[in-house]
Amino acid sequence: MLPVLQNVSFTLEEGEILALVGESGSGKSLTALSITKLLPVKQFEYTTGKIIFSGTNILEVSDEKLRAIRGKEIAYIFQDPFTSLNPLKKIKDQIIESYKIHISENEKEAVDKAKYLLNKVGLTELDDRLNSYPGQMSGGMLQRICIASALMCDPKLLIADEPTSALDVTIQSQLVDLLLKIKEEISMSILFISHDISLVASLANRIAVMYAGQIVEIGETDLLIEKPNHPYTQALLRSIPSGIKSHQRLAVIDGIVPSPVNYPVGCHFSTRCPQVMERCKLEKPLLYELTQNRRSACFLQEKKK
Ligand SMILES: Nc1ncnc2c1ncn2[C@@H]1O[C@H](COP(=O)(O)OP(=O)(O)OP(=O)(O)O)[C@@H](O)[C@H]1O
Ligand SMILES: [Mg+2]
Repeated sequence: MLPVLQNVSFTLEEGEILALVGESGSGKSLTALSITKLLPVKQFEYTTGKIIFSGTNILEVSDEKLRAIRGKEIAYIFQDPFTSLNPLKKIKDQIIESYKIHISENEKEAVDKAKYLLNKVGLTELDDRLNSYPGQMSGGMLQRICIASALMCDPKLLIADEPTSALDVTIQSQLVDLLLKIKEEISMSILFISHDISLVASLANRIAVMYAGQIVEIGETDLLIEKPNHPYTQALLRSIPSGIKSHQRLAVIDGIVPSPVNYPVGCHFSTRCPQVMERCKLEKPLLYELTQNRRSACFLQEKKK
């Protein structure tokens, strides 16, 4: 067995939006799926740790209780609306499914709730939409349907795993605005996953930065963006266009995220870090507490003390 995620630890408060960012392959989706044990049991094992949701350790609950939590209390929106919906089933049957399982079998009630939410996410001609199949709709419409579908049981926690990255930039920002608006009405927490730190900067209360299966930095959005502490967060921020003059080239982070088979012995970022020291290649830094709510996993902290 290879360790894929290590020392991934964070909290999410009621009503809070926490963003999980990092390059492709950093472990964001595995983290999202592991929260409700959605990873295939034959391939993945939890070796240690706890996942506490509303006081209950998800790793210890019965399968029945877990099914009651999934879809009802913790709902997901995934990256690609085309693969998250069944092409052979009408939208109506897919959107009301979780409501009928968890809340009430009354079909009219379920359809009314679906229409209410579809209207909220900006869709019109709802009877036609409900009677359509996924193949008859655009990606933007389908993603709106996935958002509505995730909200059918008023979840306490919404896990949105790159919910807009398969869409055009204009539709992306519309959907982000929409999620924020809905969140004001329904008091839920959101774990918003994205590789795009500039996208989450406008919506998250806090940001957790992931690299090669670990959280390397976590803190309040404004402070983290203004004064990134970890060399990886600094590199991520240098690679986005904001504030850079048009003739300047964006910085690239050389190399790629190592896969679990070749995670470095010491700090996972040591092979690409511009400030690497000998020690970083041998030892793993733990998350140092910089200030309240702010942690960073880098030995440079010790020098600053
Ligand atoms: N089923 C699997 N078996 C083995 N390794 C896997 C499996 N799924 C993912 N991995 C590996 O785990 C690491 C993290 O993958 P994950 O999909 O969580 O990344 P991610 O941050 O969500 O990336 P992306 O931005 O591309 O969605 C990657 O190195 C990936 O190759
Ligand atoms: Mg992913």
